[in-house]
Amino acid sequence: MKNRKLLYEGKAKILYEGPEPGTIIQFFKDDATAFDNKKHATLEGKGVLNNRISEHIMVSLDSVGIPTHFIKRLNMREQLVKKCEIIPLEVVVRNIFAGQLSKRLGIEEGTPLRRSIVEFYYKDDALGDPLVSEEHITAMNWAMPHEIDEMMALSLRINDFLSGLFRGLGITLVDFKLEYGRNFENDIMRILLADEISPDSCRLWDMKTNEKLDKDRFRRDLGGVTEAYQEVARRLGIMPENTPANHAGPVLVSDN
Ligand code: TMP
Ligand code: ASP
Repeated sequence: MKNRKLLYEGKAKILYEGPEPGTIIQFFKDDATAFDNKKHATLEGKGVLNNRISEHIMVSLDSVGIPTHFIKRLNMREQLVKKCEIIPLEVVVRNIFAGQLSKRLGIEEGTPLRRSIVEFYYKDDALGDPLVSEEHITAMNWAMPHEIDEMMALSLRINDFLSGLFRGLGITLVDFKLEYGRNFENDIMRILLADEISPDSCRLWDMKTNEKLDKDRFRRDLGGVTEAYQEVARRLGIMPENTPANHAGPVLVSDN
């Protein structure tokens, strides 16, 4: 790891230059943050779980024709991905009222939406990732109109596929966040699904008990965060052998 060129360190991942041109190594950390980094903890084993869960989801999406940046998993914490120019937007798909949408519109969490919706947030921690419209996106030149259309179409296809996949495991996919990037190969630009899809970036509720199996356990201090991620991995059939089963509870580093 020593001689690798560090490209970027984010809150939950580190990006290193890959072994071949046009590739990047994504390293999954155990760090968890919420509320724009105001809350931070290290959750032992989370990175290993998210690496495996995201790999499984990206490979499944690829098999149904969704173009993704994923190439292969390298080890417990790293995966090789295609280099792309990240579009500075968080694309959120929602099926059920929860989180910010419930707060913004004053509608109780758990209320189904009449139809799935796609929202865009501008990726900027200092601004608190504000909700933006297509008008803002094009006026600010963050993405072109045809790119917005493509991200919306892909996001709804991903939602259909993942809703079915999780439903089969007794889990409701409430909402989730996606990121896209532009990949240039042979002078052709393609939009790829990038980043990760894991319980860090989804709301997953057990269908029978409504128990939360995602990062809301951390955001809302419900405890059992890694256990919940392990349960998602177990239901996906990918429980990694070396993940500590009985680790100490989450370590709260700061909470303000
Ligand atoms: P929200 O209700 O807080 O807007 O979250 C919607 C979905 O997006 C939820 O599944 C969590 C995910 N999300 C992220 O992955 N990163 C973020 O920074 C935020 C705010 C939400
Ligand atoms: N990515 C957000 C942050 O660190 C956390 C979240 O998912 O709510 O602030």
